[in-house]
Amino acid sequence: MSKLTDLRDRIESREARIGVIGLGYVGLPLAVELGQAGFRVTGFDVDAVKVRGLAQGRSYIGDVESSAVAALLEQGRLEATTDFDGLAEMDIINICVPTPLRKTRDPDVSYIASAVEEVRKHLREGQLVILGSTTYPGTTHEFVIPMLEDAGLEIGRDFGLAFAPERIDPANRQFKVKNVPKVVGGETPLCTELACQVFGTVFETTVPVSSTQAAEMVKLLENTFRAINIGLANEIALMCEKLDLDVWEVIDAAATKPYGFMKFTPGPGLGGHCIPVDPAYLSWKMKSLNFPARFIELATEVNGSMPDHVVDRIAELLNEDRLAVNGARILVLGVAYKSGVDDMRESPALDVVATLLARGAEIRYHDPFVAECDFAGASMKSVDLTDEVLKSSDLVVVLTDHPGVDYDRVVRVGPRVFDTRNATRDVAHDREKITRL
Ligand SMILES: NC(=O)c1ccc[n+]([C@@H]2O[C@H](COP(=O)([O-])OP(=O)(O)OC[C@H]3O[C@@H](n4cnc5c(N)ncnc54)[C@H](O)[C@@H]3O)[C@@H](O)[C@H]2O)c1
Repeated sequence: MSKLTDLRDRIESREARIGVIGLGYVGLPLAVELGQAGFRVTGFDVDAVKVRGLAQGRSYIGDVESSAVAALLEQGRLEATTDFDGLAEMDIINICVPTPLRKTRDPDVSYIASAVEEVRKHLREGQLVILGSTTYPGTTHEFVIPMLEDAGLEIGRDFGLAFAPERIDPANRQFKVKNVPKVVGGETPLCTELACQVFGTVFETTVPVSSTQAAEMVKLLENTFRAINIGLANEIALMCEKLDLDVWEVIDAAATKPYGFMKFTPGPGLGGHCIPVDPAYLSWKMKSLNFPARFIELATEVNGSMPDHVVDRIAELLNEDRLAVNGARILVLGVAYKSGVDDMRESPALDVVATLLARGAEIRYHDPFVAECDFAGASMKSVDLTDEVLKSSDLVVVLTDHPGVDYDRVVRVGPRVFDTRNATRDVAHDREKITRL
């Protein structure tokens, strides 16, 4: 029987087999990096389409090249499967499954539960389990441990358990998996040491913290910090509107301060799997301790009001042109939740477009990253940005500022533009056609 301490040598020699459960935006890049670091990696996912694609050397994640997947497959350092029995052969198991919210905005840890249940069924001596899904402080200690200990093994002696939050920023060209420090908190010092050792083969820096709870809280602090500061930027935008000031000018000038200020920008609302979701994990946990998370509640309120505010501004602009929302031909530019990605999760465009449709607007959209999209039951395809499309619209609304869109041409050829992202900042002509958030 292998002992947990044997893992030191197995990691050093790259003999350790590594499993990654959940091959999405987080799991696939991690699996590829670990494969490139010399390990034999097996990805486990319930989605047979993803598994089949990977087996054919196809990546479905923007930041992962298909050629990298194909090369690892050929070298026998990456495989993907829907069969979880193989977990028994893994020495280290990373869990990277989704952690969404329920309709009631409570944490939905059911994906973690089913992944951990698979691990429990195959748990054996000498294994290290690392949870990477973002979740509330205490999940690993209070929720995962009791499930795993059901297998009859002792934590810290027979098997290891750690939490290591993922910080990947899709489409970020400067910061990729390797050069973003990895925070690691184990249930025991040995768990932390082993998890740091394995991540040290990929990440330039590892940051050990004293517990799994601390590591869980680090991730929630980071994303709550973003949500609150975006909320502040959004509220400053609303203030500037009342004061007849240009919020973008104000923020850009403030950002010249070399210390004590960090730039955040306003927009049509929050999107993505993380920023709109993660703070709710923390506020839910704090509610159970009878502590109101006031900053989170306020930021959620301000950020959540932005899609409706954008719709109101659209109605005002149309009104200035003696048009009603009902029947107006609106061209939406960018529907993904942020620049340069194809991810529609929680995108504010979903709310803005659904509300405009409900009010009778005729919507078309152009997004070079999102070919098709469903807006509250209305399925649409991205249209080409032709002169005809621009000229036949009453209003262009920029919801996401994607690279590769020629905003100069949009303003020159199209009707008036409502720009919620300052995508038209460099357009030097026809400024009177542009209204910014
Ligand atoms: N996307 C990001 O930018 C990002 C960044 C940091 C942290 N995170 C966190 O990482 C976690 C994963 O997020 P993601 O964006 O990679 O999600 P994702 O939806 O892209 O990927 C999750 C994968 O898990 C699979 N899955 C679901 N249930 C499973 C199960 N029981 N067993 C095996 N596979 C299962 C899904 O099929 C999917 O392929 C979340 O907790 C998220 O908050 C995400």
